[in-house]
Amino acid sequence: MRAAVQRQTGDELLEIVDGIETVALGDTDVRVEIKATGVCHSDVHAMKGDLPQGVPFVPGHEGAGVVTEVGSLVSTLAVGDHVIIAWSPPCGKCVACVDQRQPHLCVMIQFAVAGLPKFTDGDTELYGMAGFGTFAESIVVPQEGAIKIDDDVPFDIASLIGCGVTTGVGAAINTAKVTPGSTCVVIGCGGVGISVIQGCRMAGASIIVAVDLNAEKLETAKRFGATHGCKPDDLAGVQAEVTGAAGGFDFAFEAIGFPQTVRAAYDAARRGGVVTVVGVGGFDKMVEFNMFELFFNEKTIHGSYYGSADVRSDFNRLLRLWKTGRLDLEGMISQRIKIDDVNDAIAKMLRGETIRSVIEF
Ligand code: APR
Ligand code: ZN
Ligand code: ZN
Repeated sequence: MRAAVQRQTGDELLEIVDGIETVALGDTDVRVEIKATGVCHSDVHAMKGDLPQGVPFVPGHEGAGVVTEVGSLVSTLAVGDHVIIAWSPPCGKCVACVDQRQPHLCVMIQFAVAGLPKFTDGDTELYGMAGFGTFAESIVVPQEGAIKIDDDVPFDIASLIGCGVTTGVGAAINTAKVTPGSTCVVIGCGGVGISVIQGCRMAGASIIVAVDLNAEKLETAKRFGATHGCKPDDLAGVQAEVTGAAGGFDFAFEAIGFPQTVRAAYDAARRGGVVTVVGVGGFDKMVEFNMFELFFNEKTIHGSYYGSADVRSDFNRLLRLWKTGRLDLEGMISQRIKIDDVNDAIAKMLRGETIRSVIEF
């Protein structure tokens, strides 16, 4: 089969290779024929080494498709099921899953699969992105990593739920718990930031300010619920205008992955406000806060991992919001492409020109 392959950390272009094979199907695995997969900025983080990732590897983690084979001990899925890939599924048994009730923080499955090869290219073993790797026509995943959805959901729509939409909408409604009438600012309007904006809108925020370097993105963001849009340099002015005496936003989100934009999100939140970091950055990227401001401002700063979502219920919850017209997924697809054009799609994403490119097999 055909797949995109990254040979070494730091390579800027993916190689499109024929003749790739998956590893053998285990007793508790399923084989999924990938029908559609989104290009997410985290793929680039893995290519650059910001995210820990074994090489060589097949990128891609935002996919949907059809189950074509099930292992002998698989009880939850059958051949023909339509599924969304969950790149960090809960095991359902560990401390995070049971005692802490934070299934999104379960690493039992992800750590197990990330260290194992998922594909072969002749004699060479290939890893998959985060243990998955959906830039391939077929993939073998643990049964927990494939979430069943209704057959009538188009695969391009379904694929977006696999990462960006769950991450972004989840950051707003699960992690930050945006409240009706609140004021929000979202820094970065790619697929993840646009999803945060949609989450804030669905949660009933009264003001949603979209911030991006790319002016076109600011207009796009308004289609998804942003009430205002500005470039980073203009944020202080807009903030003063829309938040008045509060002096800052109730909820500030960073959806890019740079220290300076995390700092900007912190500064944009009001005293007592909530700062949610959705963007991914490397181990060497440091953000500075002084001791006085941490104490005096009483802001809450937290990360958001996979939208603090329980993929077992949230994937289908988000699809219900889409089906009833409350969540716009069609509008997030900037282009549909073939795997051969993945490098071009990555370049467009890095220039800030796309919300999401979706590869269709
Ligand atoms: N200030 C404002 N906007 C910026 C800046 C900046 N300094 N730098 C980049 N941007 C904008 C880009 O123009 C683009 O619209 O941020 C957006 C980033 O979007 P994408 O590259 O499409 O990334 P996305 O897939 O949305 O992911 C964003 O969330 O889950 C994480 O790993 C993911 O770190 C990544 C982040
Ligand atoms: Zn677990
Ligand atoms: Zn992603």
